[in-house]
Amino acid sequence: MLPSVLFVTSEMAPWVKTGGLGDVAAALPASLHQAGVDIRVLIPCYPALRAAFPDACTVAELPSLAPALPPARLLAARSDGLPLLLLDCPALFERPGNPYLDASGADHPDNALRFGLLSRVAARLGQRGSPLGWQPDVVHVNDWQSGLAPAYLHYEGGAPSVITVHNIAFQGCFGHDTLAALGLPEQAWRFDGVEYYKQLSFLKAGLQFATRLSTVSPTYAREIQTEHFGYGLAPLLRYRAAALRGILNGIDTTSWNPATDAALHQPYSIETLAGKALNKSALQAQMGLPIVGDRPLFGVISRLTHQKGLDLLLAVADGLPALPAQLVVLGSGDKDMEAGFLALAQRHPTHVAVRIGFDETLAHRIEAGADSFLMPSRFEPCGLNQMYSLRYGTPPVVRATGGLADTVVDCDSPLADDHGNGFWIDGDSPHALWSSLERVSHIWRDSSRWAQIQRNAMRQDFSWKQPAKEYIALYREATTSAELQ
Ligand code: ADP
Ligand code: GLC
Repeated sequence: MLPSVLFVTSEMAPWVKTGGLGDVAAALPASLHQAGVDIRVLIPCYPALRAAFPDACTVAELPSLAPALPPARLLAARSDGLPLLLLDCPALFERPGNPYLDASGADHPDNALRFGLLSRVAARLGQRGSPLGWQPDVVHVNDWQSGLAPAYLHYEGGAPSVITVHNIAFQGCFGHDTLAALGLPEQAWRFDGVEYYKQLSFLKAGLQFATRLSTVSPTYAREIQTEHFGYGLAPLLRYRAAALRGILNGIDTTSWNPATDAALHQPYSIETLAGKALNKSALQAQMGLPIVGDRPLFGVISRLTHQKGLDLLLAVADGLPALPAQLVVLGSGDKDMEAGFLALAQRHPTHVAVRIGFDETLAHRIEAGADSFLMPSRFEPCGLNQMYSLRYGTPPVVRATGGLADTVVDCDSPLADDHGNGFWIDGDSPHALWSSLERVSHIWRDSSRWAQIQRNAMRQDFSWKQPAKEYIALYREATTSAELQ
């Protein structure tokens, strides 16, 4: 018998997505559902979900579950057969902005309550007398937003739990008053409870109390146990190392398939790689760049934040016209970095084009039209764009960290042995990034070598089949063995 699972998430593509968690929360449950797992996805009923599922019907009324938590309801819906549970609480979720930020870009002031409710309800469904009449064998939570659920399950009893860390830099820290407001016992205020540097941390609570821990690549699972990458949580992760696994994310190979991608000017495959050139000229035209074939075109699609290391690119990008190379950037985030890229494009209008915003269609066209994709991330738990790039024959240039190190093989490495599919940046300085750009543009000019790198990249399998098996094994472990330290 496969264990039944409640999968808890704060975002889910295509309706609500700020980054890779949204993609994973759509594709992993769908893949587990296909594999026969009785899985239901619990997510706040944001306006986009209410609009997408107008016929969702009430399946449970939830009374107030803690002093500061309002009553709520659960609505049931299905997405391609996958059961969704929409946590309906208009006072907390019906508002403009994204799941975490208001329209002006500041944190919603009541995030502790919003995600406290999500965690509290998740735990309630994993306990005897679940208001659904269905009780999962495992409660699987993701990141800090549902990280408090394992703490409730620990103090009150209930199903075993799994927490997956998608990004340890976001920890969900709030004041001491949150403890009572969310109905946790005072005894939880301990270093081996939910207390973390005199605050309540949702993520720490999850890492402390979940039966099993996972993160989204084997390398990141090792990295977060070090001071540099652990953002203060390394000692706890080392303590719980026996319960921690690294499972590499998959990608949605249906929507990210260059042979059938409706967003592309010209679909192509490993057999018809020449078709990729038409996507390059279409992208140049769309972005207002000269349509030239004599220089490489680099692509970037990213949140513009310190994590992604794009300040390193800004520091060297004035050299691109002389290389020569073109650059297309799609992203949004830090206002300074947005302004920096817009100014760069203004200085070099024939070599650099920048779009600030979130644009799914353009993202597909950049993956197809660029020659090479840039991801100089300082840390990258998994990263999805490098896998999209590999699948689209657009060799990525990456820092060898987290999932980037697990998916990209440097084509000049002696160990690559004809499997090279991209480029590692040798260091974390602007100079190191610049050397890589020079190396890429040199190798790009050797068209048969380049085509070989593209073929190596396109042959890889990044479907969810294998990761789904690993998650099932993890659920089994969680249900059959005791809490490991
Ligand atoms: P992270 O979750 O850290 O942002 P990932 O590489 O895991 O990084 O996932 C990012 C996801 O968000 C990818 O699906 C990527 O295509 C998408 N994305 C990021 N920025 C944009 C943007 N400006 N427009 C469209 N898609 C974007
Ligand atoms: C996070 C990470 C990213 C990862 C994604 C999905 O947002 O920053 O590296 O791919 O989660 O797991």
